[in-house]
Amino acid sequence: MIVGLDIGTNLTKATNDGERVVVFPSLVVYGEEKDWSLKGGSKKVYIGEEAMIVSQTMENVEVLRPLHEGRIMHQSYIEIAKFALNLLDKNAKVVATGLPVKSSKKERENVLNSLKNALNCEVILLPQPVGSLIYMGMKTGVCVDIGFGTTDIVVLFDMEYLKGDTMLVGIDDIYNNLELFVRNEYGISITPEEMAKLLLENGEVGRIRGGRRIVVKREDVIQSYEEIVKGWVDRVASRVKMLLEGLSTSIVENLVITGGGSLLPMVYELFQREFEDIGKVVKPDDPITANAKGFYMLAKKLKGLSEEVKEEKEEKEEKDAKKGKKK
Ligand SMILES: Nc1ncnc2c1ncn2[C@@H]1O[C@H](COP(=O)(O)OP(=O)(O)OP(=O)(O)O)[C@@H](O)[C@H]1O
Ligand SMILES: [Mg+2]
Repeated sequence: MIVGLDIGTNLTKATNDGERVVVFPSLVVYGEEKDWSLKGGSKKVYIGEEAMIVSQTMENVEVLRPLHEGRIMHQSYIEIAKFALNLLDKNAKVVATGLPVKSSKKERENVLNSLKNALNCEVILLPQPVGSLIYMGMKTGVCVDIGFGTTDIVVLFDMEYLKGDTMLVGIDDIYNNLELFVRNEYGISITPEEMAKLLLENGEVGRIRGGRRIVVKREDVIQSYEEIVKGWVDRVASRVKMLLEGLSTSIVENLVITGGGSLLPMVYELFQREFEDIGKVVKPDDPITANAKGFYMLAKKLKGLSEEVKEEKEEKEEKDAKKGKKK
């Protein structure tokens, strides 16, 4: 009945119970109609994992991501939302979702209306990092959400939005810099997915080039990664500190970092060090899905209340009707 939906630049996360979360790449591919179709009816829109495969194996296809630099690329955003609901709950009554903190009013209005129409249900729109704060049970606090495309910051006081910011730097900046290093040193290009594998799973990445195997391992890149990530955290942290300047210490009691970026090597530790004179930095148990779970929790709370009120009203009406009959 209720769905928490977090459409990110890189990954879409959705849940209909606040616990299990489906995660798929935020990818939409509009394929060309095939010359022949043997299975009947050629499919033209691919989403998620399927879109990933199609984009790697088919030529002449248009690959779209619903968000770019914090802006919404409209139709693919709606396709992704519909796809997520089809996976979870076709009859959802309420969808709670998030947008970058600094999305424009007009953009929010557009998204709200087109989601309502496309999904045929009530839609609640929140600033993205709020999901993680709710998930962690914090009504007051600061949350820094390091995503693939943007880093979003929000300051809440007693569940009211105080201030926030969207920085157009995300994990992709770290990856781009590291990719440059790999290209210079090894002469091969590697994708963001391969980069994550290299850094997080200690995997290796290879290409055939000039009739030879070229393989890059974690230990080949880690030193360069450390330099890049230090400068990167420095930049993000100073922007966050600027936003916190002058705030009451009671608000900054809860300092959260979330999003996939908080899972990359060294990032959490560097943030803790940057903010040690302000407070303790904490991280949700699963930073990638925390926003979606928090959106679900908030919608449930809001909706649960109004459902209760409605039920009470209905009960009362029923009683009144019975009374009326007796008379
Ligand atoms: N355990 C993990 N599994 C998958 N991705 C991970 C993991 N740890 C770190 N990452 C990185 O996190 C990225 C996804 O992070 P996240 O879902 O927060 O971004 P997003 O919400 O898509 O982006 P944005 O918020 O900027 O729109 C992946 O691209 C990957 O590089
Ligand atoms: Mg995100």
